[in-house]
Amino acid sequence: MNEGGFVTPFAERFRMRVPVVQAPMAGGATTPALVAAVSNAGGLGFLAGAALAPEKIASEVAAIRALTDRPFGVNLFVLDPASPDEATVRRALDAIDPLRAELGLPPGQPLARYAPDFRAQLEALIELRVPVAGFTFGLLPAADVERLHASGSYVVGTATHVAEGIAWRDAGADSVTAQGAEAGAHRGTFIGAFEDALVGTMALVPQLGDATGLPVLAAGGIMDGRGIVAALALGAQAAVMGTAFLTTRESAIPEVWKTRVRGVSDTSTTVTRAITGRHARGIRNPLMQRLRESAQSIAPYPVQNALTQELRQNAARAQNGDYLSLWAGQGAPLGRTRAEGIGAAELMAQFEQEWRATSVRIAEFMR
Ligand SMILES: Cc1cc2nc3c(=O)[nH]c(=O)nc-3n(C[C@H](O)[C@H](O)[C@H](O)COP(=O)(O)O)c2cc1C
Repeated sequence: MNEGGFVTPFAERFRMRVPVVQAPMAGGATTPALVAAVSNAGGLGFLAGAALAPEKIASEVAAIRALTDRPFGVNLFVLDPASPDEATVRRALDAIDPLRAELGLPPGQPLARYAPDFRAQLEALIELRVPVAGFTFGLLPAADVERLHASGSYVVGTATHVAEGIAWRDAGADSVTAQGAEAGAHRGTFIGAFEDALVGTMALVPQLGDATGLPVLAAGGIMDGRGIVAALALGAQAAVMGTAFLTTRESAIPEVWKTRVRGVSDTSTTVTRAITGRHARGIRNPLMQRLRESAQSIAPYPVQNALTQELRQNAARAQNGDYLSLWAGQGAPLGRTRAEGIGAAELMAQFEQEWRATSVRIAEFMR
């Protein structure tokens, strides 16, 4: 640790006492209360903006700013507008309708819009001048990175392998999140086949650092102080933790999802595109299994995501975990030792205590 008490340059830049970034998590987890609690506790909170309309991003950012004067981030999915052909939508609906019927829903219909307009979201982000802007699913053109820089934002790209990290470096990103295969929810892969991009966090972090020369943030499977120290040992400047925060009090996902995350084993998750049309890691359940049976009917993201949304929202209201997308990472069982409904500030205090204790233990080995 340097004299200022900061463990890495990234932590110093964002005044982080604990080298932990709370991962952006679309789907209800990253409320302004969670983001602000993590930043106030000496980490870096991150709002998931991808599913939100530009006005909603603005109101959530205002809510965060009312709760903290510390740095925080906002994350978006880099997406082209979706214009699916009728047959693709029809095929997907035919496979989803039997599941809708089981929940008492009428057959689904094609939608006017399948995702918020990414360009409009990006314009909102530039206007909001957020401290950190994060991106996944694709690569921003250098001109957009420059505009974010001009408005005062630090830019973080997501990479699942080295070529993606180099692409972000060449586009002007300030740092890159190394998303290992252990990570919960969607894979950020945007170059090559997803099967080739399931590189584990342990292998990915040092390779991305070596190849890009950029600061690397390590994501995937990090659940406690041991993982944070491991990430730092691999050269990462902070640990990005998603699943660990999913079950906190401030996370607004359905209770049944939290219960399942706390109840799983190391082999309970798998990566599938059946639910959203883009590969994502989640806990196996009937929704995933049933949609996988009609693999040829799955529409590409974001179409499949939008077409399964009403079904999942109904399941959420009914606390029916069988028809939810139960995104979670391979490290989920490691969170079970924490108190149920733990607050984010308390969790951050535990991480701080754990990573310092682990560092001391390692220093003792070395003597
Ligand atoms: C429920 C959930 C939703 C997620 N949504 C996003 C998102 O909106 N944007 C993003 O860049 N990453 C998203 N991620 C991935 C995280 O940023 C991160 O890579 C991952 O949580 C790290 O692995 P871990 O879950 O093992 O901690 C999500 C992860 C989870 C668990």
